[in-house]
Amino acid sequence: MNAHLLVPAAGLGKRLLRSEPKALVLLAGEPLLIHTLRRFAPLGLVHNAIVMVPLHHESTFRAAIDRAFPGAHVQVCPGGAERQQSVARGLDAIASDHGVVVIHDAARPFVDPETIREAIREAECHGAATVATPCADTILQATQDHFLEDTPDRSRLWACQTPQVFQMDLLREAHRLAAKEGRAYTDDATLVLRHGAKVRIVAGSPKNFKVTTPEDLRYAEFLIKEGSA
Ligand code: CTP
Ligand code: MG
Repeated sequence: MNAHLLVPAAGLGKRLLRSEPKALVLLAGEPLLIHTLRRFAPLGLVHNAIVMVPLHHESTFRAAIDRAFPGAHVQVCPGGAERQQSVARGLDAIASDHGVVVIHDAARPFVDPETIREAIREAECHGAATVATPCADTILQATQDHFLEDTPDRSRLWACQTPQVFQMDLLREAHRLAAKEGRAYTDDATLVLRHGAKVRIVAGSPKNFKVTTPEDLRYAEFLIKEGSA
């Protein structure tokens, strides 16, 4: 499989209210990032993966990765101020111009390998794919001063997740244009869509949630202890 894994782990995790970067926070005794990387091991994607980390934390990340995956050739590179810049730096660190790029948040430790495979297959076929889950809640669109403005048709709404997978040249070109035009995006599927690409949606599961708050971390710990992660 000609796929390159990029793992944005350069966020500080402000909403988690901890002193260390979120990806290093221990979950059942192991850093969150390591749990996440393990999900990609069955696909052979940890070897040559690139992890973007907060400035000045490179050596701590390096040590944690080497301990968990000795000899795996994982690159650790400094991320940027926003996720988009972290992804751009990771892209610059990929030597090859071929194949697909798999981008997965360090903060989503429970993605299942079959979903990763399906996202890769869809991106190979359509150029780009993102994992997402159908919205369970009715979503309200509000005005700035908190009045209901619109209620979009729920059957067409999906909550964005990762992995997101792209053909390499498509993602590089879209990132180059976004940087040139000074446009900011919180995910790469939207970034390539705005530059004219088609993006296939792959149904994920609520278990692939993003660890964001202390409650999420406690729930993640519970799932591991219960053996249902
Ligand atoms: N991320 C990154 N570079 C940034 C910001 C975020 O690589 N400058 C990564 C995070 O490490 C995380 C993913 O993008 O794996 C999703 O971001 P989020 O969940 O918002 O994490 P943080 O930005 O760390 O958390 P917070 O917003 O609470 O500070
Ligand atoms: Mg953030």
